[in-house]
Amino acid sequence: MAQRLDEPHAPAALADVPLFDEVSVFGAAQTDRATFEAPQLPAWPSASELHGGIVCVRALRRRDHERGLFDVLAQLTDAPVPDSRTWYAQFDAMRAAGDHYYTIVLEERGRIVACATLLVERKMVRNCACVGHIEDVVVHRSCRGRGFGRVLVAVLVRIAFTLPHAHVYKVLLDCDDRNVPFYERTAQFQRKDTHMALYRPASMARVTVGPPRARAMI
Ligand SMILES: CC(C)(COP(=O)(O)OP(=O)(O)OC[C@H]1O[C@@H](n2cnc3c(N)ncnc32)[C@H](O)[C@@H]1OP(=O)(O)O)[C@@H](O)C(=O)NCCC(=O)NCCS
Repeated sequence: MAQRLDEPHAPAALADVPLFDEVSVFGAAQTDRATFEAPQLPAWPSASELHGGIVCVRALRRRDHERGLFDVLAQLTDAPVPDSRTWYAQFDAMRAAGDHYYTIVLEERGRIVACATLLVERKMVRNCACVGHIEDVVVHRSCRGRGFGRVLVAVLVRIAFTLPHAHVYKVLLDCDDRNVPFYERTAQFQRKDTHMALYRPASMARVTVGPPRARAMI
């Protein structure tokens, strides 16, 4: 009989594991009452805001490419569906990075309808504090205007400021001018500094995705 890929004894390479430990990350964000009550932070979404519990917020999982993840990402930018090998290599490298990537998704009836990522950058300045970066916020076209964008931003901001192992002192993001009001409205972000970009020259070869290289420890 064929083995189901989501069975507990399925090979690790096929397991539908979450990108990060949801119990500690969401748990800390939900129980930090002081942070919750800070007026500048958006409210944690209640079950009713999430359409009576039909929609769930959770960590990205290894097999979300089978649940429409790239349909959603393609509404943000160029996001072709990678072959499974490339996707698993990338996911595993993100997961192995430990406390660096926090990608959350909203799932409705088994399909991904929205996603966004928080990156945590460890700094040397400010007594070795951290900066959070919100990236790739997108809601499926068919679901916009239902408050999902607000939920994504609220959850990531809360995760950033309640991480138990990293002192995040600010959260940054880049966006188009047309989306500025969205971030001002949903989480009171303010305009600051100038965004600059340098793209890899098209003439340079593409690098094949692989596991992160272990650095020699002295
Ligand atoms: C921007 C985006 C994430 C908003 O998602 P959404 O689920 O439709 O937003 P919400 O329903 O949570 O809206 C929350 C609030 O922001 C407002 N809002 C939503 N999109 C907005 C926009 N582009 N500009 C200004 N305000 C916006 C809503 O009117 C709502 O305000 P209100 O609560 O005062 O009524 C979504 O339109 C999207 O995926 N766009 C394409 C990808 C993109 O541009 N992502 C941002 C990358 S920086």
